[in-house]
Amino acid sequence: MNITVIGQGYVGLVNSVILASFFHNVIGFDSDKNKVAMLKQGLATIKETNLQSLMDDAKERLRFTTNAKDAIRPNKILYIAVDTPEGKDGKPDMTNFNACLDDIAKNAIQDTYVVIRSTVPVGTNARAKKYLEDNSEHKFEVISNPEFLSQGQAVVDMLNPSRVILGVSSKAAEDLMMQLYSNHQKRKIPILVTTPESAELIKYASNNFLAMKISYINEIARFCEIVGADIDEVSLGIGLDPRIGLNYLKAGIGYGGSCFPKDTKALSWLANERETPLELVKATIKVNNEQPNILINKINSHYRSLSNLTFAVLGVAFKGGTEDIRNSPAITIIKYLLEKNARVRVYDAFAIDNFQKEMQRHSRIDYSLSIIDTLKDADAAIILTDSKELKELDKNCFIDNLKSPVVFDGRNLYKTSAMAGVTYYSIGRKTIK
Ligand code: UGA
Repeated sequence: MNITVIGQGYVGLVNSVILASFFHNVIGFDSDKNKVAMLKQGLATIKETNLQSLMDDAKERLRFTTNAKDAIRPNKILYIAVDTPEGKDGKPDMTNFNACLDDIAKNAIQDTYVVIRSTVPVGTNARAKKYLEDNSEHKFEVISNPEFLSQGQAVVDMLNPSRVILGVSSKAAEDLMMQLYSNHQKRKIPILVTTPESAELIKYASNNFLAMKISYINEIARFCEIVGADIDEVSLGIGLDPRIGLNYLKAGIGYGGSCFPKDTKALSWLANERETPLELVKATIKVNNEQPNILINKINSHYRSLSNLTFAVLGVAFKGGTEDIRNSPAITIIKYLLEKNARVRVYDAFAIDNFQKEMQRHSRIDYSLSIIDTLKDADAAIILTDSKELKELDKNCFIDNLKSPVVFDGRNLYKTSAMAGVTYYSIGRKTIK
């Protein structure tokens, strides 16, 4: 089939490449000239495992453009994959999405299927259909097909999703989408056909449930410290119940990234708009906002003053294996340390460039290219990202390089039993002294 994907960000590019790898002919549209110039040279603009090689293999079926007319006119299947970032009071900012609708209404020359991959408030599907039909002489089928891609494993998530959700309003739309996902159907991946409203809500409800699981375990971690329990044992003990499951039960400094913080606030905003506040969603956000303070309080409890201490900060990305620092709880903690006149020496294998852009030049931030250089003669180490490289560190690394071996671990990367000889603070577990 011939498909246009509007928006070549993280979701859009992964969709373009994988649709092409399923032998569809894809036109990828983006208004960003630099991005499209790179894509035209066959270079992936984001780092995702296997994305570049799939792009190489499918290059015959992939074309990129900045011209909306060239992108929209030829194809009657249009994917929308633009971002809907957090706006005022958590309300999703629909500027880019609405611009897509304008482009489609202006340029479509035939009856068209519009597949919404962007995360959009419930009701957007119906609104989009009405807007398009009011502003064009053609008919539009609008389909809600939310994505569940997780950064760092987007290709795997798209090739082998736990489920495909199709929010449709007609049999014709359902049949078309089933044809598009025939490869998934053959591999027995569950495909759930719903109303557009359900599909739109499934995306928010999924992310909110996962975020709620994280806030729940973080709150239980706080209680572990009061009663002398160990959060890793508690997580395992409850997660082994298949009704609960082991995933998203890792306590730490809270969730970050471009999805959970935005989608929890968006659902809360949406519910308030409908005068039906969602109390668990509100509590999830509140617990998460407080969570960096749990580690900050431990740092404050150890020192009389932070002024002129040097902290070796290991990891600033919102999660391991990514370069993304958006809403990273690490930023909140580092800003606090700087406010208290501490010095920070920062290391992150992937995210340093983004971190430098965010923090600008700051006289009390230094950067190191290796973990050892970061630790050398610092007063303490603070671990803020759960990367594989950091998980594999040995306690001697801290003992041999820090002024005195004090570690504040915001991600519970090491077994407390393995940290004898280090003053080791973590989340929801006994402090080792
Ligand atoms: C998330 C969802 O996992 C995807 O399914 C969804 O498609 C995506 O948002 C989206 O809406 O586009 P992502 O933001 O890449 O994906 O990140 P996750 O791996 O889910 O992690 C989110 C945050 O939760 C990270 O800061 C991570 O460190 C934290 N986390 C995760 C915990 O603190 N504890 C856990 O047990 C799991």
